[in-house]
Amino acid sequence: MENIKQKPEGTIAVVTGAARGIGRAIAERLAGEGARVACVDISPARLEASVAQMRADGLDVHAYVLDVARRSEVREVFQRIEADLGGPLATLVNNAVWASYQSIEEIDEETLEKMLAVGLKGIIWATQAATAQMKRRGSGTVINLSSAAAVLALKDSVAYCAIKAAVAGLTRAAALDLGPYGIRVNAIAPGMIGTPASLGKFDQATLHAREQNVPIGRFGDASEIAAVVAFLASADSSYINGALIMADGGLTIAGT
Ligand SMILES: NC(=O)c1ccc[n+]([C@@H]2O[C@H](COP(=O)([O-])OP(=O)(O)OC[C@H]3O[C@@H](n4cnc5c(N)ncnc54)[C@H](O)[C@@H]3O)[C@@H](O)[C@H]2O)c1
Repeated sequence: MENIKQKPEGTIAVVTGAARGIGRAIAERLAGEGARVACVDISPARLEASVAQMRADGLDVHAYVLDVARRSEVREVFQRIEADLGGPLATLVNNAVWASYQSIEEIDEETLEKMLAVGLKGIIWATQAATAQMKRRGSGTVINLSSAAAVLALKDSVAYCAIKAAVAGLTRAAALDLGPYGIRVNAIAPGMIGTPASLGKFDQATLHAREQNVPIGRFGDASEIAAVVAFLASADSSYINGALIMADGGLTIAGT
């Protein structure tokens, strides 16, 4: 049974892909609520700059350069995080992504392997490393970033849609396996969030048309996804397990 008194304050969290975008907003939110946050990313320069800025803002954040696709390195870095930050992990946020958008006809082996390695295998390796610590702690929460693309068909996005649906399936299966240890596993499905990576893919006219498809008429902000993560990491969500929580402004119920 999870310790429902668990609070983020004083707890240790890992956020993967924390150097920019949604991951950075999640790190800021969890640290802002009092967690010690290990920010993991493959990009050293971007990670150092982001963590330096967050530390300047008074947040207890720490940089770890890591490719989540490399299983043995993931295990080693998570052990180092436990030693450095002074205790076992309470929260893991699997946010890192490497995405390329191609149709079923175009997708090539190299692209598919890389997307699977980061977006699917990376979640499994990080979850294994984190839950070894959470089991000793007797509780924990794992939060996976899926996407509205898990339930919607997006054009020229065959690998992305498949992997994000797989993340939802992985989340349910892992929740079943890890529940007996007091570890909850949930996933979030953001709709279109206004990050440089997502906005940069489209011209102004396309962006405007896409915004009109969202029932509330706008893209989301990374802080709105970070708020859902904070909820899933807290005792307020103590009976939510194995869920895919849509955070998409209603995009997936619009039927357009
Ligand atoms: N932005 C959106 O509109 C949107 C919508 C739905 C779902 N999502 C999901 O939310 C998450 C964050 O999205 P984002 O737009 O902020 O992404 P982003 O591309 O801006 O950031 C991803 C981060 O992951 C890091 N990364 C890439 N490969 C890595 C690896 N092998 N190991 C460690 N770090 C690695 C990158 O360096 C980068 O800092 C992703 O899982 C994405 O699929 C985003």
